[in-house]
Amino acid sequence: MQILSKSLPKHVAIIMDGNGRWASGRGLPRVEGHREGSNAIKRLLDTSLEIGLKVISLYAFSTENWKRPPSEIHSIYSLLEEFIDKELDDIHRKGVKIIHSGSRDKIPKNSLKKVDLAIEQTQKNKSIIVNFCLNYGSHAEIVHSVNEVLKERSNKEKPLDTKIKEKDIENHLYTYHLPDVDLLIRTGGEKRLSNFLLWQSAYAELYFTDVLWPDFDKDSLHTALDWFKSRVRKFGDVKQK
Ligand code: IPE
Ligand code: IPE
Ligand code: MG
Repeated sequence: MQILSKSLPKHVAIIMDGNGRWASGRGLPRVEGHREGSNAIKRLLDTSLEIGLKVISLYAFSTENWKRPPSEIHSIYSLLEEFIDKELDDIHRKGVKIIHSGSRDKIPKNSLKKVDLAIEQTQKNKSIIVNFCLNYGSHAEIVHSVNEVLKERSNKEKPLDTKIKEKDIENHLYTYHLPDVDLLIRTGGEKRLSNFLLWQSAYAELYFTDVLWPDFDKDSLHTALDWFKSRVRKFGDVKQK
């Protein structure tokens, strides 16, 4: 299906939820849901390239997900490493640029090494930016940003009591170089943001679907983009922008 680039969201963010339920609905261990979830990511990248999307953010692991049993955390990071081992060359060949948003603390060393390799290998690619949100939380990101602003000010010996502006915070978010989120998709039926890109999604269109992440396919993405096209976006004005 051809979509006019004018009506395409500049930045699509996805809360990939429902892996566990996908697995338990089939009598399988939760890890199988995460495995099928990584296949859904592969599919999503191909469809996004086909459509011509330029920036997608994927919520892969939240700062709150450390509360999960260690065995599930371990399998999520093992699957991530496996995904990079298997898919990096193909992803690179397709022109995907991988970046990471989130804190590096606590991410297993080996996973971090592979993520860094993916970032380094794909840094010059231009087809699409895939922002991997790993150990990501909006609250942590905003606190990080404010601390960076303060650090910068103390280095420059600027008065620390000068008011912090919106731009200052924006410029120090992990995503400072990305456009704001236009379309935020959450799969898995829950209608909440779970600490994802809160600042960047201030004016995003919010799309919630019951489809579980491992079942999210090409048609599911097209349905979401069609819905986005029909939105009237005014950003506080009286006229459509
Ligand atoms: C989302 O799926 C994947 C991660 C949080 C890593 P879940 O694991 O949350 O799946 P459900 O919500 O339990 O079905
Ligand atoms: C959000 O899903 C995090 C990711 C998809 C990585 P969760 O399943 O962790 O969110 P809650 O706990 O339902 O809010
Ligand atoms: Mg969940």
